[in-house]
Amino acid sequence: MKKVIVLGSINMDLVTETKRFPLEGETVIGENFFTNSGGKGANQAVASAKQGAKTVMLGAVGNDLYGKESLQNLQNYGVETKALKIKEGQTGVAVIILHRGDNRIIVNAGANKKYTTQEAMTDLAKISNKGDILVLQLEMSLDVITHIIPFAKKRGLFIIFNPAPMSMDLDTKVLHDVDLLIVNEIEAKMLASNNSATKVALINKLQKLGAENVIITLGAEGGTYTYEHEVHRYQAYKTVAKDTTGAGDAFVGTIAASLTRGESLPEAIVRASYVSGITVSRLGAQQAIPTKEEIDSLLNK
Ligand code: RIB
Repeated sequence: MKKVIVLGSINMDLVTETKRFPLEGETVIGENFFTNSGGKGANQAVASAKQGAKTVMLGAVGNDLYGKESLQNLQNYGVETKALKIKEGQTGVAVIILHRGDNRIIVNAGANKKYTTQEAMTDLAKISNKGDILVLQLEMSLDVITHIIPFAKKRGLFIIFNPAPMSMDLDTKVLHDVDLLIVNEIEAKMLASNNSATKVALINKLQKLGAENVIITLGAEGGTYTYEHEVHRYQAYKTVAKDTTGAGDAFVGTIAASLTRGESLPEAIVRASYVSGITVSRLGAQQAIPTKEEIDSLLNK
């Protein structure tokens, strides 16, 4: 059976709500502080596992308490963690300020940036089979990402790339080996070096740069995607937004999980929209992602 391999970041999220975002130089009072497991890669892996796919995580945590907790949480959610590296020093940490469902995030990469290209290649060669789906983001060292994409392509993996948070240093040559590019509108504009293009023009440019298929996510507006050489629209699953953290990651992980089961891209997108909509309606990242059973019962209504 095909599996999902997520090579990416693992963070501990330190979250506080506020009545408003602080201005420059200002201190505001926070409310309802909590910690919970996050990181774009780990969130995507948890979404994939919660949506029923065999899921393996590659990357690194630090040898601190957050590292132990992050590993334990991934395992509790059913993600295979045997290949994860434990590095001397801190686990990745994200400081998140929440206000009326919107957020501001600062990420300290910690151990994520210590995971090397050589480790990534060795790990991937050991655990991957032709046809497996590899999911990548950009909270790792750019060197890992730019080398692992062509390496994985040669091994016959299907590559889903979610270049978030976008880096201007990313060489767009990597898009040649990307089977499915998932970006929000800002990332799409940055990659296409065009701030004013329409969605269709952005998709054309991203495909010219080499991406086989593209999804541009538009939050509550749904999104635009390519399928069988045509551009389509999809609707978001509407909920009341409590916390948008990890909703994009939940979308990406669900797409990967659905594709391993042989679902078509449009089918995968419907499920992923439900998953991200529900994630937004709950607090936190991994803890907010719904299970396959929850989504199945909504889809069968
Ligand atoms: O995409 C959301 C994630 O971004 C958070 O969980 C945080 O860890 C940051 O990496």
